[in-house]
Amino acid sequence: MSETPVPGFSTLAVHAGAKPDPATGARATPIYQTTSFVFDDVDHAASLFGLQAFGNIYTRITNPTTAVLEERVAALEGGTAALGVASGHAAEFLTFHALLTPGDEFVASTKLYGGSINQFNHSYKNFGWTPKWADPDDLSSFEAAIGPRTKAIFIESIANPGGVIVDIEAIAKIAKRARVPLIVDNTLATPYLMKPIDYGADIVVHSATKFLGGHGNSLGGVVVDGGTFDWLADKRYPMLSEPRPEYNGMVLGETFGNFAFAIALRVLGLRDLGPALSPFNAFMILTGVETLPLRMQKHSDNALAIAEHLSNHPAVKWVSYPGLPGDRYHQLAKKYCPKGAGAVFTFGLTGGYDAGLALVKNLKLFSHLANVGDTRSLVIHPASTTHKQLSDAQKVTAGAGPDVVRVSIGIEDAADLIADLDQALAAS
Ligand SMILES: Cc1ncc(COP(=O)(O)O)c(C=O)c1O
Repeated sequence: MSETPVPGFSTLAVHAGAKPDPATGARATPIYQTTSFVFDDVDHAASLFGLQAFGNIYTRITNPTTAVLEERVAALEGGTAALGVASGHAAEFLTFHALLTPGDEFVASTKLYGGSINQFNHSYKNFGWTPKWADPDDLSSFEAAIGPRTKAIFIESIANPGGVIVDIEAIAKIAKRARVPLIVDNTLATPYLMKPIDYGADIVVHSATKFLGGHGNSLGGVVVDGGTFDWLADKRYPMLSEPRPEYNGMVLGETFGNFAFAIALRVLGLRDLGPALSPFNAFMILTGVETLPLRMQKHSDNALAIAEHLSNHPAVKWVSYPGLPGDRYHQLAKKYCPKGAGAVFTFGLTGGYDAGLALVKNLKLFSHLANVGDTRSLVIHPASTTHKQLSDAQKVTAGAGPDVVRVSIGIEDAADLIADLDQALAAS
């Protein structure tokens, strides 16, 4: 008997999780813009509330439009289940909320989006959660940062803003030895360029605001459960291993097996903390995901052409793009992202801080704003904007020194983007 072939990435990007609407036959996934869902009868209502049956109660917890997005991203990342939430930061927060109790620690890469560094350093302190920082260029710093209260390791696959490729497989081994889950923020790579679960990650988070949605029009976040971590191995993760009083003593890790983490985030995190994704945004992001493979290839091809051009420009001191053969992360890029190294990278101007400000002022086709992962090309000077709150030393560590410009290359014609950069560099 022939086996059903596993669909390819582009097929999953268009079809996973979706079918014609059973009520109307609508081919595109409808926007179920409703807060709540009518129960079949009283027994149905009771079984939904007791987690004995899967179904919709209230859009803060589940919604059919969001469910298609969740199933699709889980399929693309190779996970067992996923959760759509209001933003990338909400995805990170719900993930840590399920893993950490007051007094716990987690190890975080120093090469992260500046907003994540802030979130971890300041807001998370209010919950009694402490980040211990480690440098992905020095793997021994991850080992050194692990202590008895460490409950997770957090890294970005391609780090924002510097074009750093992190050795996920090596860090996954460290996480396994420490018996903690490895969380990978895969926002800049997307599963088209790299699938962290294949290299040993246990949880993947996304700011879907970026390349998954891809058009700069909707905020969203996704958490993917890799289904790989044994939550019952010891008592370190009580949300999954202890009886839950609100569900008649149910132990989520026992009842839901390899998708228990996603369930815990939904029935405890989303239910109680509330950062639900709006069905309209789920629809917009889902529509974006359908063209993810086409866009990511074009983003990466354009970025490589522009990085090559800038690396030969006299006003540019250095370019940090792992797709360039001379780049320090090129070997890691060849291993982890053979199709391309993504759209986001940084370069340094010989003219320093002032030249950075002048460049963003003179660009015409590039938009000066604080986002990445749009069809349009975007530019920002991190030291005066996204990373402004960090100390000078933290700025440099995070790859956001005074001379640094970050670009997110769009899907326009590369020749037009190069011409725009050339005229702005000449003017600055
Ligand atoms: C890598 C990364 N992770 C997380 C976030 C936070 O996502 P959001 O803005 O959707 O909350 C961002 C935002 O820029 C990001 O670049």
